Amino acid sequence: MGNKQLLNSIYGDLLRVDSLDTHYNNLNSAYDTLRSSRDGSQQLPEASSAICSTELNRLVRDSFSIDELRKDGIYFTGDDLAKHAANFIKKDLSLKSRVLDPACGGGNLLIAISKHLPVKKHLKSTLEAWSKVLYGLDLNLRFINIAKKRIVFEAIMRGVVVDIDSVDEAAALLKHINTGNGIEDVSNCKELTHVIMNPPYNNIKNSFSDLWGTNSLVNSAAVFTKLYIENITPDTQFVAILPEVLRSGNRYIGWRNNIQSILRGRAVLKGKFDSKTDVDVFVLTGRKIAKNTKKIQWVDEYISPLKYIVSDYFNVSVGAVVAYRDKLEGESSPFIYPKNVEPWKKCIPRSERRRFKGRLVKPPFVVIRRTSSPSDSNRAVASVISGKEKVAVENHFIICSPKSGSLKDCLDLLENCKSSVTNEYLNNYIRCRHLTVSAVKTIPLDME
Ligand SMILES: C[S@@+](CC[C@H](N)C(=O)[O-])C[C@H]1O[C@@H](n2cnc3c(N)ncnc32)[C@H](O)[C@@H]1O
Repeated sequence: MGNKQLLNSIYGDLLRVDSLDTHYNNLNSAYDTLRSSRDGSQQLPEASSAICSTELNRLVRDSFSIDELRKDGIYFTGDDLAKHAANFIKKDLSLKSRVLDPACGGGNLLIAISKHLPVKKHLKSTLEAWSKVLYGLDLNLRFINIAKKRIVFEAIMRGVVVDIDSVDEAAALLKHINTGNGIEDVSNCKELTHVIMNPPYNNIKNSFSDLWGTNSLVNSAAVFTKLYIENITPDTQFVAILPEVLRSGNRYIGWRNNIQSILRGRAVLKGKFDSKTDVDVFVLTGRKIAKNTKKIQWVDEYISPLKYIVSDYFNVSVGAVVAYRDKLEGESSPFIYPKNVEPWKKCIPRSERRRFKGRLVKPPFVVIRRTSSPSDSNRAVASVISGKEKVAVENHFIICSPKSGSLKDCLDLLENCKSSVTNEYLNNYIRCRHLTVSAVKTIPLDME
C-alpha cells in the first residue's frame, strides 16, 4: 500500500470511530504509522478533515450524557466559529505571543490560533516554539490529552519533518496546556498577550452578588469573563464566545457595566452556536484598558421607522402567578397562561379560575408570550384580554396594560406585534429564547 493510501485509510478510520477513547488511541496509531512510513507528512493535507473540530465535537456529544455535557458546559466550538474568533487577533499573533484559553476542551480555539503561527522545518522545533505561545487549561484530562495531540497533528499537516519518536513525546512538549480550574487558577495572567475563550455556560454558585443580584446561581461564562478581564494587564487582547443572555439579559446589566469599564471593545452577534445547540452566541472582543470611558455597543443601533415605542402607550410587566409555587389563597379570579389563551385573538377568560392573593390585572390588556426564539416566524406572539373581571396572569406572559384603558389601543398593539418591524427589532435586540420586559417596552409602535 502506498503512503497516500495508507494515510487515507488511517484517517478514514478516525472519521468513523464512535468513542472519544478510540479517537484518542487512533491518534496514537496514526502517528506511529506516519513515523514508520517514508514521506508521510507530504500526504497529510489530504486527510486534514479527519481531525477537524466537527468530528471531535460529534464524538464528545456521543461519549457523554446530556447531563454531563451540561454540568461542565462541554460544547466545543465548530471550525468556522473558532476561525472567526481567532481572526479578531490574528494580525497580532507571532511566536512572541502568549495566548491562553482557560477552558480549552479539545483545543479547537488553540488550533485556530496555531494556524496563524509560523512553523519551523522540523516538528520538534515547531512544537518547542508553539509551546511558548499556546497556554490552555481544562478540568478534563482526556480533553487536554486530545488537545495536545491534535495540535501535534496540526503542525504535521503544515508540512514539518516528523523528527520525534512518539506522539506522547511530541505532545509533552506543549507544556503550558494542562489540567486546571480556569476560575481558581486565574491569577497567573501577567505574561499573557491574548486570552481567547469559549467558556462553559453552565450555572455555578454566585460569588459576585454586587454584579448580578442575589440569585444563588450565575452563568459561569460571566464569571470567566469578569475574572480574566480583571486579571490581565492593560493592552492584553481579549476574545470570548459568549451566550446571548450576557448581551441582552436584564440580570447581566451589572456585568455589562463592569466589563465595559475595563474593556474597550465590541460585541459581535453570531447567531446559533451550532446546528445542534439551540443557544445564540456573540463574540466579545477588545483590549483591556485601565479605565474605559467608551461604552460597548451591546445591541446594534436600530433606527426605528416608527414614531413611538410600546412603553409610550402601555405599562409593561410580567404576570405575577407562579403556578407551581403560589398557594391557592385569596379571591377566585379568571386565570390565564399560554395554553389556555389563543394566540392573535381577543378573548374573555372564562375557562379556568384560581385563587390568588397577588397582583390581578384589569382588562383590557395585551399578553405576549415570553417564550420566543429567533427561529419563530413571530417573536412577540400576542393576545388581547377583555372582560369585566380582574385576571390572574401566569408569569410566562408579559402584560401590556394600555395607559388609556382603551381596547382599541390593545387591538392596535396586537397588529403591531405581527409586523416585520417588531420581528426585526426583537431579533436584533434579543436572541435569547425568552423576551424580557425591557425588550417589549422598546418595541417600535405604530399608533394613530
Ligand atoms: C464550551 S467548552 C469549550 C472548549 C473549547 N474552548 C472550545 O472552544 O472548543 C468548555 C470547556 O470548559 C471546561 N470547563 C468547565 N469548567 C471549567 C473550569 N472551571 N475550568 C477549566 N475548564 C472548565 C469543560 O471541560 C469544557 O471542555
